[in-house]
Amino acid sequence: MKLLTYSLATLLVFSFSATSHATSIYAGKSKAAAVCSQCHGIRKTSAEAPFPPLAGRNEEYMENALKQYRDKTRVSDIMNNIAGSLSDRDIDNIASYYSRLKP
Ligand code: HEC
Repeated sequence: MKLLTYSLATLLVFSFSATSHATSIYAGKSKAAAVCSQCHGIRKTSAEAPFPPLAGRNEEYMENALKQYRDKTRVSDIMNNIAGSLSDRDIDNIASYYSRLKP
């Protein structure tokens, strides 16, 4: 029983640190594929689309833009909606993923 309690505690500590620290470009990748790519694409937006490309853009710039959309200091009906449901962690992960792509 003691052993079980110990391993559960270890597990909790590890899963907590995994979700609360290191930025994950893998999590960013799946979020980008599921949500953002519908408009922004992954490497390129579709030719006739009016959406700004994100691949290879500055990481901090994207983080700031997404936080501004989220708190509505930057106004866009579409992006205010989308960024409204992103956590700080999502924003870090997605910006980290897109910034590392070659356009
Ligand atoms: C339904 C379409 C749509 C989806 C889905 C979408 N966006 Fe956007 N995004 C837009 C539009 C339109 C703009 C331009 C808005 C403006 O003029 O500020 C934009 C602008 C942006 C900008 C600012 C770019 C710049 O050059 O300043 C960033 C960053 C961004 N989106 C990130 C994301 C991320 C990350 C996701 C996924 C979580 C996402 N978007 C999902 C339509 C979309």
